[in-house]
Amino acid sequence: MDVYQAVAGRRAVRRFSDRPVPRDVLARVLGAAARSPSGGNLQPWNSYLVTGATLAELKKRAGERVASGDRGDEREFEMYPPALKSPYRERRAGAAERRYAAMGVARGDAEGRERAVAANWDCFGAPAALFCYVDRDLGRAQWLDLGMYLQTVMLLLRGEGLHSCPQLAWSVYRRTVTEVLSPPAGLMLVCGMSIGYADDAGPVVRVDRAPLAETVTFLD
Ligand SMILES: Cc1cc2nc3c(=O)[nH]c(=O)nc-3n(C[C@H](O)[C@H](O)[C@H](O)COP(=O)(O)O)c2cc1C
Repeated sequence: MDVYQAVAGRRAVRRFSDRPVPRDVLARVLGAAARSPSGGNLQPWNSYLVTGATLAELKKRAGERVASGDRGDEREFEMYPPALKSPYRERRAGAAERRYAAMGVARGDAEGRERAVAANWDCFGAPAALFCYVDRDLGRAQWLDLGMYLQTVMLLLRGEGLHSCPQLAWSVYRRTVTEVLSPPAGLMLVCGMSIGYADDAGPVVRVDRAPLAETVTFLD
């Protein structure tokens, strides 16, 4: 698979099969992803690759919080600005529309949408998950490094026939993640990621991108 194919083939998968992911494959992907660039070569990603009983425990605890109506921990960062302006607002709404339509969740079906969101905390059925932490003493520029690392992981997963879904949603129940994973104090959870083989029966959602002229300016 060449780089273009990996980029084109990556999508946020939200329905995984329970087929286990071999540990050596995950180790190969994470070993290769360590070549991701970072400013000053700080390599500020602190990753936890979670499977088996530990992931089951995490899903159970998070699921209990969801079921009890617990809206989550106080936020350490906002996922989006409270008043998302144009064109971001429309892009976000368009992606959600596309996603829910593919899942058969009707526009006014608030409960259906809530159920779809709650699937985040079951990792959409995935048998593996990555949790990426950053040192609280680092700054915004290092979050950029994390983004590069996470995308590298996702592309390498495609190279192995695997799929993924990056998940800021895990920051909502970050204390539960931290309870189960016990990272050193001083680390902050930035992003989770479900990893596994896509369930062939799941919908394939292609989310549009803005026309190139909207996001790129070529200057001669
Ligand atoms: C940093 C980041 C966080 C995301 N968090 C979530 C999430 O919590 N739950 C989810 O279902 N999708 C999440 N996504 C997936 C996006 O919704 C998805 O990438 C976007 O809609 C474009 O769709 P595509 O990746 O399938 O092309 C996240 C993506 C990124 C890059």
